[in-house]
Amino acid sequence: MHIRFASPEETHALRQQVLRPMQAMEEMEWPQDRNPGSFHIGVEQDSELVAVASFLPERNPMLKGERPYRVRGMATAAPFRRAGLGARLLRFGMDGLLDRHADLVWCHARQRAVPFYARAGFTRLGSLFEVQDIGIHLLMYQPL
Ligand SMILES: CC(C)(COP(=O)(O)OP(=O)(O)OC[C@H]1O[C@@H](n2cnc3c(N)ncnc32)[C@H](O)[C@@H]1OP(=O)(O)O)[C@@H](O)C(=O)NCCC(=O)NCCS
Repeated sequence: MHIRFASPEETHALRQQVLRPMQAMEEMEWPQDRNPGSFHIGVEQDSELVAVASFLPERNPMLKGERPYRVRGMATAAPFRRAGLGARLLRFGMDGLLDRHADLVWCHARQRAVPFYARAGFTRLGSLFEVQDIGIHLLMYQPL
């Protein structure tokens, strides 16, 4: 099992399976995926990605930061959860953010993932909000 950089396409299967099963595979490509500075990572086991995450330069109006990044599409395949993979992947991505001189990372955490991000050092901000068809989220962030 090892962590490596991935192409946007390589994240699509887990994005769909874990995060957006109600959407078509063609909708798994997000507008920021290929922006300058965006990168994607995954945990590979037996030539398959079993966890993925994407790091995208993006500002959030609620947060200050000269070089903010958003972490998005964080997904561990169900049989591999609670084994520390998500935490390792997030740490690897955040090391990549430091290399890129980012000064802030934020996410719209799904309500069930709030404890995961809190454990990784993210702070909750504001109130819960609903994203249509996907569920309840909370803005979380961490200065780097
Ligand atoms: C959130 C998610 C990515 C976490 O991945 P993971 O590989 O299971 O995470 P880890 O095993 O590294 O968990 C690290 C720590 O986060 C916390 N955590 C993770 N999942 C949790 C849960 N369901 N409930 C409470 N705490 C949780 C725990 O503190 C855990 O450490 P511990 O197992 O030693 O107690 C995974 O559960 C997932 O893909 N969920 C569905 C999709 C999703 O909600 N993605 C986030 C989108 S914002």
